[in-house]
Amino acid sequence: MIFSKIALALSSAATVAHAANSWIVPGAVWMSTSNTKIDAHGGMVLKRGDTFYWIGQSASHNEQPYLYTSKNLLDWTPASNPQNSIQYMWRPKFAKPNGSFWIYGQVDRNVQALKSSTINDNYAVAGSKVSLPPSGYTYSDTGMFADDDGTWYILTSADHNTVQINRINSDGSIGDRVNYLAKGAYEAPGLFKVNGIYYLIVSGKTGWRSNPNQMFWASSISGSWNGPYGIAPDAEKTYNSQNTFELTVAGSQKTTYIYMGDSWDSKGGPDSNHVWVPMTVDTANKKVTLDYHAQWKIDVNTGVVSTPSRKRRYEAERAEIVGRAAVGECGRCLNKRGVRKITSDSAVTFHNVTGLGGRQWVQFHYHMQDRNLAEAHVYVNDQPAVNISSLNHRAGYHDIVPIELNLREGADNKIIFSVSGNGEEAGVVLDGIEVVED
Ligand SMILES: *[C@@H]1O[C@H](CO)[C@@H](O)[C@H](O)[C@H]1NC(C)=O
Ligand SMILES: *[C@@H]1O[C@H](CO)[C@@H](O)[C@H](O)[C@H]1NC(C)=O
Ligand SMILES: *[C@@H]1O[C@H](CO)[C@@H](O)[C@H](O)[C@H]1NC(C)=O
Repeated sequence: MIFSKIALALSSAATVAHAANSWIVPGAVWMSTSNTKIDAHGGMVLKRGDTFYWIGQSASHNEQPYLYTSKNLLDWTPASNPQNSIQYMWRPKFAKPNGSFWIYGQVDRNVQALKSSTINDNYAVAGSKVSLPPSGYTYSDTGMFADDDGTWYILTSADHNTVQINRINSDGSIGDRVNYLAKGAYEAPGLFKVNGIYYLIVSGKTGWRSNPNQMFWASSISGSWNGPYGIAPDAEKTYNSQNTFELTVAGSQKTTYIYMGDSWDSKGGPDSNHVWVPMTVDTANKKVTLDYHAQWKIDVNTGVVSTPSRKRRYEAERAEIVGRAAVGECGRCLNKRGVRKITSDSAVTFHNVTGLGGRQWVQFHYHMQDRNLAEAHVYVNDQPAVNISSLNHRAGYHDIVPIELNLREGADNKIIFSVSGNGEEAGVVLDGIEVVED
């Protein structure tokens, strides 16, 4: 009897659906509608009809191509794995150079193509791996771009440091090289087009560590490249991410361009997350800027971007403070006061926090001078400690770190903020928390 009870509990746990996602949270762990961590790196998103298809390499499945679908760019449903026999395919990308759907990715430093009659399943291996025309180059990172005239282009970062653009022929084969960028060691290419100008975003080559990605522009697909130009303050290192694709959402009110990047863990493994942010394109001056938001979303019908508007704020200086931590001046805090000297024997407890019942985004507003010296932890009610960095890669890098927590309904939640390591040396200052209600 007891066994069947356990089995029942397990099976109901396994089928628990994840509540709808209300925000895109750069650097945070993103959950699918099946309550699994979304794992689709080096990927891209292709819209067909009213559905967005996201393909990427799955770090927890030997870098097989994995696919998710969504209607709103927030809730992603895992689709079937499109091709089981292919492993270690890096940066898979969709293309549709003829009536078939294609996936191109790098396998053994050459291009491997897969082909299907439907976008989301049953891809067959299409021929053997090929090197890049005209010189038979091997390469690492695959990018993809579809021009307005329906021509598809594969972007590659060749091993000898040029980023190359080749046409994809209508039979799916890799065609002529139409352009290349030989202005330094760049990889992870992505291309998008605004008002006839082609904007190429590339990353530097620093392994899994992030760097300030750069933009180059050209006035035709085969034109010469102008640049490099930064797309975010250098110190942000592209908000701890590396480019993979630029998505254009043409809405009824606005066309929004989205930078999609990977926030890699130390080895490109399953702890890697995703950083997506909208971009401002200054067409007069040909500048691209990432518009970083700790939380945002886009209405895929209108193209309009929004950020949370309903938040309940709790000030750290009014919370219960134990240990060495103490209220002090804080120039960057909302009320110019915050809790400093948060050492490992300290805790800042927010009482009577109002929750809606269930998973909810809570923004921790804190600053850390040196994130190598300390790690922030959070306890909610009687749940075990949560390491903030494990839920959001932006922890310690930004003053607003949203993580998703399980709150009770009503005004009696207790949230404790504490720090392991040397929080005083690390310069941790807690400003407050904001519980997002929309
Ligand atoms: C696309 O081209 C490939 C390769 O020539 C071919 O096998 C496939 O049938 C074509 N798809 C369609 C729908 O024409
Ligand atoms: C929390 O709310 C309860 C019930 O209203 C109240 O008795 C208690 O004093 C509050 N605690 C704090 C720390 O404000
Ligand atoms: C917290 O999580 C991060 C990211 O997963 C990890 O690197 C770090 O070691 C963790 N720290 C502790 C104290 O568990």
